[in-house]
Amino acid sequence: MKVVYLSLTGQTRKFVQKLDMDLLEITPTNPYLSIHEPFIVVVPTYEIEATEIINDFIETGENQNYFKGVAGGGNLNFGNLFVFTAKDLAKEYNVPLLHTFEFQGNDEDVQKLKKAVKDLG
Ligand SMILES: Cc1cc2nc3c(=O)[nH]c(=O)nc-3n(C[C@H](O)[C@H](O)[C@H](O)COP(=O)(O)O)c2cc1C
Repeated sequence: MKVVYLSLTGQTRKFVQKLDMDLLEITPTNPYLSIHEPFIVVVPTYEIEATEIINDFIETGENQNYFKGVAGGGNLNFGNLFVFTAKDLAKEYNVPLLHTFEFQGNDEDVQKLKKAVKDLG
């Protein structure tokens, strides 16, 4: 399972690097990449203008067929808006919300997401 992620200030990058999985970072210069293997998305939370390149990636080629689930990083101080980017992606593309965490996550977050990925089969 590949991990496709977005990171504006580096927190999500630090989190995914702890997963020991195959990583692909999406940046404004490369959103239109086609992949042909199952992947999950890990995203931080920002207004849509800052995160929509991940939608561009998902909608490129046949990528959506390989999209298996999403995890989200955020900041609990945002209250009801905590991790809304990941929640919105789960709804929009009808994939499970696998895990949510704050900033770069902790060891428990790493284990929980790895288990959720394993449970996907
Ligand atoms: C301008 C701005 C807006 C943010 N809005 C939210 C938000 O609505 N909900 C949330 O959970 N976190 C929000 N965050 C927190 C970030 O999603 C969080 O710090 C995340 O770990 C950043 O990941 P990154 O360093 O990989 O970009 C916001 C952060 C900034 C700077």
